[in-house]
Amino acid sequence: MPTPCSERGRFRDQSVVILGGNAGIGLAAARLFAGEGARLALTGRNAETLLAAGAETGAITRVADMADTGACAAALAAFAGALGPIDVLFLNAGVGGFAPVADVTEPFWDQIHAVNLRGAFFALQAALPHMRDGGAIVVTGSIGSVAAVPGNVAYAAAKAGLRAVVRIVAKELLPRRIRVNMISPGPTDTEIFKRDAAEAEIAAMRAMFADVVPIGRMGEADEVARAALFLASRDASFINGVDLYVDGGCVELG
Ligand SMILES: NC(=O)c1ccc[n+]([C@@H]2O[C@H](COP(=O)([O-])OP(=O)(O)OC[C@H]3O[C@@H](n4cnc5c(N)ncnc54)[C@H](OP(=O)(O)O)[C@@H]3O)[C@@H](O)[C@H]2O)c1
Repeated sequence: MPTPCSERGRFRDQSVVILGGNAGIGLAAARLFAGEGARLALTGRNAETLLAAGAETGAITRVADMADTGACAAALAAFAGALGPIDVLFLNAGVGGFAPVADVTEPFWDQIHAVNLRGAFFALQAALPHMRDGGAIVVTGSIGSVAAVPGNVAYAAAKAGLRAVVRIVAKELLPRRIRVNMISPGPTDTEIFKRDAAEAEIAAMRAMFADVVPIGRMGEADEVARAALFLASRDASFINGVDLYVDGGCVELG
């Protein structure tokens, strides 16, 4: 029998920072990292859920909006001060938003890009002086960046930009032996697609995704988080610059 992830201790005594660690995929990852011995730090926007995530996982926490580059930089410096050099950065925070091309306004575009691309890039940049050489960075993208989904243009463009960022940062960090990889989830059952939706709409979306996803269902946050831990761990020591689709086969089989 393979040893369950939670008993393997791959991150024992490592400093792990998750930006966007108080809900969904980030919270699932926080639970797994904590279970594998990491010293953990989390950010999010929602102070209440962040406090609860910290209490559950033993993480130190700080409210920091990804759109606020100064707040993120301050959080990263504070985490490194408290935990020591960062071994693993999981840059996961992201927001969704749908509008057909004709309806995309500049504020709508800017709000998505401020978090998903601009905020993510400058957080990554701010983290670099605090990263330990030989560490790992995992960034959450989306299969939206390679799928022609009507209404998804602003989000897809931001995540596609982030994919380009990952490739170039991975190359620039080769001398420091810091691996930089991306996970790109397919439809995953988290708050991001349920927010502001009625129960009937959520049920309809689940049924639609069951039809669309080759594996026949949405993913669970935990399934995506496990892929992030894999890329962050020594199990992935020869993997660098990739975008791993964690999508039930959507991209390759859809
Ligand atoms: N679920 C999917 O189907 C799916 C598919 C493809 C890609 N993704 C990507 O997966 C990542 C995680 O999403 P999820 O599905 O787990 O959604 P989620 O449950 O909504 O979680 C999003 C996380 O990001 C944080 N966050 C969002 N905006 C932020 C901001 N401005 N500043 C700081 N933190 C912020 C949230 O914190 P607060 O709760 O405090 O705002 C939360 O921790 C995102 O990058 C998303 O684009 C998700």
